[in-house]
Amino acid sequence: MPATASAITPAHALKSPETCVYVGDCREVLAALPACKQGKVDLIFADPPFNWNRAYDEWHDAMPEDDYLQFTYDWLDLCVDALGPTGSMWVNIPDDWAAEIVVHLKQRKLKMVNWCIWHYRFGQNTMGRFINSKVHALYFARDSDKRTWNADPILEPSDRATTYFDPRTHAKKEGRNGMRVPMDVWYGKFWGRIQGNNAERRANHDNQIPEVYLERVIRACSNENDLVLDPFLGSGTTCTVARELQRRSIGIEFSAANAKSAFERIKAGPKRVKHAHPTQHVSAIFAPRNVRNGGSQVAQKKC
Ligand SMILES: C[S@@+](CC[C@H](N)C(=O)[O-])C[C@H]1O[C@@H](n2cnc3c(N)ncnc32)[C@H](O)[C@@H]1O
Repeated sequence: MPATASAITPAHALKSPETCVYVGDCREVLAALPACKQGKVDLIFADPPFNWNRAYDEWHDAMPEDDYLQFTYDWLDLCVDALGPTGSMWVNIPDDWAAEIVVHLKQRKLKMVNWCIWHYRFGQNTMGRFINSKVHALYFARDSDKRTWNADPILEPSDRATTYFDPRTHAKKEGRNGMRVPMDVWYGKFWGRIQGNNAERRANHDNQIPEVYLERVIRACSNENDLVLDPFLGSGTTCTVARELQRRSIGIEFSAANAKSAFERIKAGPKRVKHAHPTQHVSAIFAPRNVRNGGSQVAQKKC
């Protein structure tokens, strides 16, 4: 592990909003940062190494299982302690470890708000079992009643509006004008794995998360000027999107080279997410229902 002495000095930093990138083992950095020790973090997004033997520059991603679980519990505990009274914590994790993490966070008295799924196409091909096409996005809060939650900035067009043309979606009583809070399975345009010639892709970063994923999490679970923390910064997606959305942020990354690259990205800004324009892509999977009634876009039957 790197020396603790350097752990509380950011390797890279920007102002307005304050954005700090620390290089080191997150277990050491989290234990040293005043905001974490004092429980002042508003939102945590953690996308840890999955122990899949991925090439993460310096981090060895193939621990014995017991060691990996102990590592996981250690950083989870530090994150729980860092979370403020209205705070939320998200963990992006595959099937292998989701159950252990859920049980651990419940034992630590966090409240589970949603167990979301990030669904993507083009998982690793195999004939031996079903092809992986998801990661779990676990949404926990310190207090589910007091947690920061903003529905309006993340609304998306509902299937009733875009597929079934149901007039009730535009009823004044509903007040959402054909929009709804997204469902707990996330997919669609710009939600695929970041690979190939994807415009967001950063060289030498494995397992980069789409910007729109972080946009949804950050808009829903924090407010402007809140403090967002990512203990496994990787290519810098969390801090890049947080900064664009006017949140303060802390990113921690074990590899100095990754941290430097992430900081370049943070300075350049996101490719897709813009502060003034939340993404509102249609997630309906069926084509619009045949329109009857002389071309009127009002369905004859209720859906
Ligand atoms: C799955 S990637 C994160 C990807 C990131 N969400 C993104 O969108 O680019 C995990 C990252 O955590 C870093 N890492 C692994 N162990 C770490 C530790 N103990 N402390 C801090 N960073 C660590 C790895 O170097 C890698 O860059």
